[in-house]
Amino acid sequence: MSQHAGRDPTEVWTIQRLLVWTADWLGRSGSATPRIDAESLLGHVLGKSRLHLLLSFDQPVQANELAAFKQLIRRRARHEPVAYIVGRRGFHDIDVAVTPAVLVPRPETETLVDFAAAYLQDASAVDGPVLDLCTGSGCVALALIRDMEKTGKIRQVWASDVSEAALDVARANAVDQARPMYVVHGDLYAMLPAGLRFAAIVSNPPYVTTADWQKLDADVRDFEPRLALDGGPDGLDVVRRIVAGAPDWLHAGGLCALEVGSRAQAVAACSMAEAVGFAHVRPTQVVGSKTHVVTCVLGR
Ligand SMILES: C[S@@+](CC[C@H](N)C(=O)[O-])C[C@H]1O[C@@H](n2cnc3c(N)ncnc32)[C@H](O)[C@@H]1O
Repeated sequence: MSQHAGRDPTEVWTIQRLLVWTADWLGRSGSATPRIDAESLLGHVLGKSRLHLLLSFDQPVQANELAAFKQLIRRRARHEPVAYIVGRRGFHDIDVAVTPAVLVPRPETETLVDFAAAYLQDASAVDGPVLDLCTGSGCVALALIRDMEKTGKIRQVWASDVSEAALDVARANAVDQARPMYVVHGDLYAMLPAGLRFAAIVSNPPYVTTADWQKLDADVRDFEPRLALDGGPDGLDVVRRIVAGAPDWLHAGGLCALEVGSRAQAVAACSMAEAVGFAHVRPTQVVGSKTHVVTCVLGR
């Protein structure tokens, strides 16, 4: 890409021309979302929202901006996720910093937040803090805190992860957003203070089967942490341990809400929950996705 758009050296790269060219090039490089990628990356370079770009189609792009943009689209063409390139991702009502140490928050996980928030807002919800297991970037915990701020029903939020590098990102997000949360480094419940009981445990754990992990798109498999994705032979290694441990950490009447990757995993997780004393066990398919959210309430 030279500073000029076509063979005519007076033909300048405008925002529109650049977006059209880049979307075509990224599409041919294998991106499934080339136009959105192009808009996100150009918006990042220019410090403008996507809406602003669309309203400024005829604006010329300066040589220094073009050079910076070129670096970014080269990275995207090598399959690096846009969220890692720009270092941020919108999630639910908030925006979080992301690095390659954490999973890029997915839209389907917003449904997990919605279920937990609905329970926590309900007058019949038990009192007590909330635990986000496998917190990664902290997106679920922070979106729940944001929801509590809106409704005025504030609870302590705890977030844990086995990856210290992921927790650095979660801590930085909490500080950036001035949203206090207790961050604990450890394997699931291992490092939580004994005796603590939660009103809700939420988690988006790793649930991809090892065989499916090997077949994931390069964008995911080669860039996102395997620890965040690979849930073992049936994808349920971590889910099984979360459900088995949950009754020891929940108040009676407390909620456990988990994201899993398929109907079959949801059915299996429901059976596990019933076996350890949960009631109101429900699998709900996330609209437009194969993922499911399993919710259950600990018997009183
Ligand atoms: C699917 S990611 C979810 C991240 C974030 N909650 C989200 O929804 O975007 C799963 C997270 O679980 C963490 N993890 C994997 N095994 C774990 C374990 N045994 N104990 C605690 N965290 C674990 C990973 O480090 C990763 O951050």
